Amino acid sequence: MDYFHRRDGELFCEDAKVRDLAATFGTPLYVYSRRTFAEHFAKLDLAFADVPHLICYSVKSNGNLGILRALASMGAGADVVSGGELYKAMLAGIPPEKIVYSGVGKTRTELELAVRSGIRSVNIENVEELRVLSDIAVANGRRQECALRVNPDVDAHTHEYLTTGRKENKFGIPLAQAGNAADIAAGLPGIVLTGLDMHIGSQILSPVPYRMALAQAAGIVADLRARGCDIRHLDIGGGLAVRYDHEKPMTADEFHDEIISLVRELGVDLILEPGRFIVGPAGILVGEVQFVKEAGEKRFVVLDAGMNDLIRPSLYGAHHRIEAVVDGVGEPVLTDVVGPVCESGDFLGKDRQMLPLHRGDLVAAFTAGAYGFAMSSNYNQRPRAAEVLVDGSTVSLVRRRETMADLVRAEVEV
Ligand code: LLP
Repeated sequence: MDYFHRRDGELFCEDAKVRDLAATFGTPLYVYSRRTFAEHFAKLDLAFADVPHLICYSVKSNGNLGILRALASMGAGADVVSGGELYKAMLAGIPPEKIVYSGVGKTRTELELAVRSGIRSVNIENVEELRVLSDIAVANGRRQECALRVNPDVDAHTHEYLTTGRKENKFGIPLAQAGNAADIAAGLPGIVLTGLDMHIGSQILSPVPYRMALAQAAGIVADLRARGCDIRHLDIGGGLAVRYDHEKPMTADEFHDEIISLVRELGVDLILEPGRFIVGPAGILVGEVQFVKEAGEKRFVVLDAGMNDLIRPSLYGAHHRIEAVVDGVGEPVLTDVVGPVCESGDFLGKDRQMLPLHRGDLVAAFTAGAYGFAMSSNYNQRPRAAEVLVDGSTVSLVRRRETMADLVRAEVEV
């Protein structure tokens, strides 16, 4: 579900004509629909209204302050994985008591920031981290609430790079070591262990891996409680899928219905860390056709947007639906939509049947709100795209296009 639609042969984002946005702000351009991500957040929030819960939006999926502020105003918390994300979440007005911090390699500086900010939970990924965190908390005269992030050894049946809960993945404490970690935590003066955490992967289409992970969690919660830990929250991570092509993702209600009985049995507050489910469908990337090249059977349409703007097709072989912003005419032709970057892996879509495109036409890649701009870079010394947030007919530039000066701003002349 999203609020990108066509009217009289033209693509609109809510009440804004995408062609007008491109004319005003230039391309490549990320366009976000506030109503889309607000509805996805609200649907999930409502689905879980029957249990105490907190939705900690996964900042890594899209960390734009405009989006973070909007979600903060709706009551969202944040899942952060770096000091930078923690900084931006708080800057956007997300209260620290709604922030959880995961990550396998948190630095001392990052943990200090977390402790001093008074965040809700540090999700612990190994025993050494517990000791470092305890020292920091004691030095700051605090006790930090924590959750053990365990690795339930469950296959999320998603892209190899997007699975995180199998024992060969670097994430989380192996199940068999959770009890020992809890005993160590109990002996540390700066730590209070109050939660259990897991995140098994991303773009997960089936409830089965969640149910398997929750079944493991039940055993661990019982074990930790038997060891004297007051486990009050369970964080089941993010991972809910969205539709890029012909997938059939779970709705918020279906997801709720599949897992809720297992959650209820545990008598815990539930934390969810969705990213893609909230912002994925809420964004498109708009590029302008620079050139069209005929090559035998195939036509290459070269955009001003490429892998540095949206790396998902190159990195994961991900599919993003691609459409002309203004309806074309003619017969469909086999088209590769590529970028200007000097790599053969620089494409947004291959072998698509598309109506003929011409120099100057605008093209949109859909479902680009999550891990789109967030993973963009300056590769090939390309200034990063601008981002606009649309709310009805109100359009706000929430990140200006980078300039040439931005490209050298942090460099030091010698
Ligand atoms: N919590 C933790 C601890 C995570 O590592 C992640 C994502 C999430 C929550 C949010 O997952 P989501 O609900 O968005 O699936 N760049 C990849 C996705 C990487 C996801 C990494 N972790 C992509 O473009 O598909």
